[in-house]
Amino acid sequence: MTAAMRSNGGMSDVQKSDARQRFLDLLHTQRVWDIDLPAFDPGAAPDAPLPLFHAWFAEAVAAGQAEPHTMSLATVDAEGRPDVRTLMLHDADERGWHFATHRTSAKGRQLAARPHAALGFYWPAQGRQVRVRGPVTACSPAESRADLRVRSTGALASALVGRQSEVLGSHEELNRASELAWQRARAEPDAEAASWTRYVVEPEEVEFFQGDAGRRHVRLRYLRRADAWDRELLWP
Ligand SMILES: Cc1cc2nc3c(=O)[nH]c(=O)nc-3n(C[C@H](O)[C@H](O)[C@H](O)COP(=O)(O)O)c2cc1C
Repeated sequence: MTAAMRSNGGMSDVQKSDARQRFLDLLHTQRVWDIDLPAFDPGAAPDAPLPLFHAWFAEAVAAGQAEPHTMSLATVDAEGRPDVRTLMLHDADERGWHFATHRTSAKGRQLAARPHAALGFYWPAQGRQVRVRGPVTACSPAESRADLRVRSTGALASALVGRQSEVLGSHEELNRASELAWQRARAEPDAEAASWTRYVVEPEEVEFFQGDAGRRHVRLRYLRRADAWDRELLWP
């Protein structure tokens, strides 16, 4: 890290306090749940979470929610310290919620040591949140290869660059590696990125949260029990 990256920008105490005040002024003018929000009747919810997730996803798309297929993935490291980042959802089926990444990345190493995760979707266009928790399994190499084949040239190029979560010496280094990866991805659409791995979060708990302007938010949690799902409401 350079000295410039380490510095605090050379701000005086007065400037720091002004900057903080401007930040707080902005923060406090932000609103949540002050748009028309859909009703959610948990009594009419299906027996299992997957059909409800599919329905809510379609409704998020119809409501114009930007990037509804992105989610937070929380993992823990070997010491039990949590970590979180945004990922793309690749599928949600009877096996669980699928995503893909490099098994050599920080999250990949965390999952190898502690194969459990939580996912969080937030769809503010409708005041909705979905949370999924459960054990994570890595898919077979064949499935992981197939995952990349159906994606864009950019996704393949990005996967071919690899080295995810390693410290980067300079942006020029990335530019060079990325240019080569793009050339290869265009020439070899079936190129393999060895560390690219598809994972599945097998749901043990799935919670659907519908925000409400009066703060009487509806929370419906599904809990897996042998071959069926229990459903319960939660205080908001
Ligand atoms: C909208 C969005 C989508 C992303 N999708 C993925 C993804 O599908 N897979 C992935 O490995 N990283 C994805 N990333 C990058 C991750 O957030 C993260 O920076 C990267 O995976 C390294 O995480 P780690 O160091 O915790 O392993 C995405 C980032 C954003 C902002």
